[in-house]
Amino acid sequence: MKAISSATANGSSRSESRPLEDNVEKKSKTRKRSISRRSFLGSTIALGAGTMGAGLLASIRTAEASGGLSQGDAALLRFPAALELLEADFWIQYNELGGIQDNEVPGGTGNPDYTEALAALDEDMDQYIHDNTDDEITHHTFLNAYLVSKGAAPANLDAFRTLMGSTATGVNPDLIGHRLTNLTQLTVDTSWWTRYRDDRHNPDFNPNHVFPQAVPTLGVNQHTAIPRTDADTSDPNFLQAIANTAGFHFPTIEQGGNSLYPSLAQRATDVEVLRILLSIGPTETMHFQTWSDKAGNAPALTAVDPVTGVSVTFPDLDVNNELFKKNLIMPEPCPFLDRSLPIVSIIRPTNTEGVATGALAFLTAMGLFIGQSTGFFAYMKQLAQDADSATRGV
Ligand SMILES: [Fe+2]
Ligand SMILES: [Fe+2]
Repeated sequence: MKAISSATANGSSRSESRPLEDNVEKKSKTRKRSISRRSFLGSTIALGAGTMGAGLLASIRTAEASGGLSQGDAALLRFPAALELLEADFWIQYNELGGIQDNEVPGGTGNPDYTEALAALDEDMDQYIHDNTDDEITHHTFLNAYLVSKGAAPANLDAFRTLMGSTATGVNPDLIGHRLTNLTQLTVDTSWWTRYRDDRHNPDFNPNHVFPQAVPTLGVNQHTAIPRTDADTSDPNFLQAIANTAGFHFPTIEQGGNSLYPSLAQRATDVEVLRILLSIGPTETMHFQTWSDKAGNAPALTAVDPVTGVSVTFPDLDVNNELFKKNLIMPEPCPFLDRSLPIVSIIRPTNTEGVATGALAFLTAMGLFIGQSTGFFAYMKQLAQDADSATRGV
């Protein structure tokens, strides 16, 4: 676990006194990089990245469309496309309040108090939030565009953009009441923390093994990961608890994608569909790894939500216990495939059976969809069932 002012993963050093020019240069590099990435998708798609509907997507169908996907392969891409729409929706909420505001991820104006509380985990949290948000937008945009290019229906959740979301300073006023996801009533399962530090248990082998929670109080009751209103930013201790909740929510979500893509890929038939799943999945792993490092920096504290009365305690994870020690962020090896084989460092779980339905259940239990309609759940359940029904046809 790196201290906030220590060397970064790319070798550059950070400090509070870093010249402003460095920041500006870094952000401008980010923009250039992303512009080229968007160019790959084509300007028509990039412009509509956040709001593109089926009609617009259909209009970009080109002569490149050929062949067509099997129903199973289409379902294996459509379910993650829907999840990426959901991911993008909540990352956009995080970015409006705690990320970097620019043309790449537009709409918000930033909440300075929340952004500062997030910076207690790492001074570059705003940059990472921004870049993670940008990534998710491109994931659903690409997956849907690919589906349409093959004559298959894209995932479309526009009818379900009905949730209120935050009204605190910084949010995009145009999106109040038009969110897909709910970040204010989360129950966050932090057992991934010990799952990746445990060299004896693999959830694929031991589905009933209970991996201990890093932050047990986040795994019960409901917690907000964003300021709901400006009143939530008045108590610095509670505001830090909100930022810490976000800091643990980020890797909790990303470890899900980290497992989902390799789990789905095992049932792809077309090699190009396999390539897509194998190429997006590891970016989720990069997100997870980054956030799992930052989460350990969440300041130890106890706070009580003044609105709900719910208490949360963030423990000091700089402990002498390998199952919890915060700098042990590299995955421990664990049993895989057969216990007669040696343990190996792997993503886990990756069992493919029922994975889409399981992912939907995980996100639902998290509270991410509290307030959503029965139509939303029916649509998502259908996409998950279709994905889980896909079989490898070779
Ligand atoms: Fe993603
Ligand atoms: Fe992600």
